[in-house]
Order: sequence, then C-alpha cells, then structure tokens
Amino acid sequence: MTTTENPSNETYDLVDYANDPERVGEISMWNPDVSSLIHAVEDNCDAIFTWGYNKGERKPLDKLYEKAKTSQWNGQTDLDWSIEVDPDALASAGTRDPMEVSYFADNPESPLRKFSEKEWHQLGVESMNWSLSQFMHGEQGALLCTAKIVESVPWIDAKYYAATQVVDEARHVEVFAQYLDSKLGGIGYPVNHHLGLLLDDILNDSRWDITYLGMQIMVEGLALAAFGFMHQTTEEPLLKKLLRYVMSDEARHVAFGVLSLKEVYEDMTQAELRERQEFAFEAALRMRDRFMRQEVWHRMGVDTEEMVKFQLAMPDELRVFQRMLFSKIVPNCKKLGLLDAGDGWLRDRFTDIGVIQFEDWVDTSEEFLELDEVAKDREAQEAN
Ligand SMILES: [Fe+2]
Ligand SMILES: [Fe+2]
Repeated sequence: MTTTENPSNETYDLVDYANDPERVGEISMWNPDVSSLIHAVEDNCDAIFTWGYNKGERKPLDKLYEKAKTSQWNGQTDLDWSIEVDPDALASAGTRDPMEVSYFADNPESPLRKFSEKEWHQLGVESMNWSLSQFMHGEQGALLCTAKIVESVPWIDAKYYAATQVVDEARHVEVFAQYLDSKLGGIGYPVNHHLGLLLDDILNDSRWDITYLGMQIMVEGLALAAFGFMHQTTEEPLLKKLLRYVMSDEARHVAFGVLSLKEVYEDMTQAELRERQEFAFEAALRMRDRFMRQEVWHRMGVDTEEMVKFQLAMPDELRVFQRMLFSKIVPNCKKLGLLDAGDGWLRDRFTDIGVIQFEDWVDTSEEFLELDEVAKDREAQEAN
C-alpha cells in the first residue's frame, strides 16, 4: 500500500483514494477565498549556476529553443480584440460534453433534475467563466514553475528553453485574463481548491525534476487536451484563435518536459522512479477532482457533496470528456518509462481510473511541429 502526505497533513492511501466514496467530503471542497490578492508558497529548491555554456549539447532541447524564438506571438496585435463576444452565446460551449449534460438532466438521481431552462443556461455561463478562470490560474502556475526551472535545472540548453517558456506563459496569463475581463464581464472564480493544492505541491517540492513532471507533463498535458476540447466546441472566433495560438505554445512545453525527463529517468533507481509514479498518480487524481466544478455548484446553490457523489458514480461509458483529458498524459508517461517501471504500478493505477487505453496514442515529443499554428499563419500571410 502506498501512502502520501497531502498539504492538510492527512496521510491517505493513494490506491483507495482513486475510488473511495468516503472521500466525497474532501473531493467536494471548494475555494471560498475570493478576496485575497496574494498567496505565498515556500520554494525549497536551490538556484543552480552552470559553467557549462556549450549551446546545443542537448540537440533536441536546442531545436526546441530555436523554434520557440521564431514562433513568438503578441497577444495584443495577433488577436483581434475588436471582435464582440456575447457571453450568452458561449454558454453551450461552457456545458462541455453533451453526454455529461444528458446524464445531469435525465438521471432521476441527479441533483440538477429540477433545473429550469434559465438555470441550465446559467450553468453554461458560469461553467465557461469557471473554466477560463481555471485555465488562467493554471497558466500563472506554469509561469512560476518555468521561472523555477530556469533557476533549478543544471543544463544550459534547458535554461535557455525554459526562459522562452516564461515569456509564453506570461502571454497566456495575459490573454486569458484579458478575455475574461473584457469579454465575459470579469474573472469570476478563484483558483479551484484541488488545482490550487496541486500547484502548491509542485512549487513546494525540492526536486527539480518534480517541477517538470508536475507542470510540464501532468498539468500542461491535461491543459493541451482541455484546450483542444474547448477549441473544438466553440465557434467564437476570438476565443478560437486564442486557443489555437496558446495550444501551439503548449505543445512545445509538453515536448520540453518529455525530452528533458527522458534523460533524467534513464539514470534513476527503481525506488526513485516509484516516487515519481506516485507523484504522477496523485497529480492525476487532483486533476480529476479539479474538473468537478465544485465552485460552480456552490455558487448555483447545488449541494456540492451530492453533486460530487453523483459525478463519481457516472458510468464509465459516459465519461468521454473526463477520459479525454488524459489522452496526452498517458502516452507521455509511457514514453518516459513511468508506466511500466518497477512492477508497473502506474499502469495499474491508470487502469483503475479507466484511462490506460490512451497509452499508444501519439506522444508529444514531436507533435509541436504539427501544432505550430503561428508558423502556419505566418507562411500563409507571406504567400499572399
Ligand atoms: Fe501556458
Ligand atoms: Fe505551457
């Protein structure tokens, strides 16, 4: 049995936690803090100088760095902020997955079964604002994590690349904040309780490779899938282009994680790898919990515990959206050797939560070239 510490200092069993109905109280917690302006996290990592200035010693990272320099974009001039957005028209994209919606609406056990037409609409509006608010807070987490990687990684090629990612993440926070503020009437939600715990855990850890694993592989892998889902389900042209451009950066970021960690993990002992497997799984659970929209239920007057219990009981075949979120994470963990290291502990856990079927989907170490929408738009402009 594996146990780990969570920030509330309660020790829990990771294997049981995956499907434990008694955890409903914990999973249904929402963030009640809507007033504080700053949040401090202790950073236990050393800042590392390297005197090895040999650029290109790690060729794949150097290639990524060169690509990042030419694929920069400007959130103020590359997006058309004059486009008018009707938040009501965005509501249907906010409710996400049609299968989930019909489960929420038609199931006699559903806490939402008595929702009026108006409440369904409101749920869409709130969910859209909540989702974009969480994207924005996650982007700030990425901004802090990559600044930390610049400090803590011992390789010059990785410091160079991570510095470009700091700029990318600043731009992402900027455009999501601007979209919420100028098009959706403001940033409606604080960071989700579970996403906040995960970001704190990643930033707090003293091992530099954990910053990579937590942020570049887990949080960004999931973000890439979630942005892709929203990009497909929205027709609003400003948000669509914003997501296309953010995703083209994110694909590079996940590649950076995969390419760097592959080298680190090759030299690790089984015991060290097992710690990484457990960290990855704990992050996966926190992210599953984070997508339950606890803050939205609370705001709409729905009993959060009842709603979480209902979501946890959702039949596997209806969990299309939740499963898709893992479509990048699982193949990347496989590529890193984390799925099958030791006794295949992480493979078993991903099987427990129903996401192992993504193991042979395309990993993200090369996908960034295909997803470079910024470069494609520039080529098209030059051709005209
Ligand atoms: Fe980002
Ligand atoms: Fe990123």
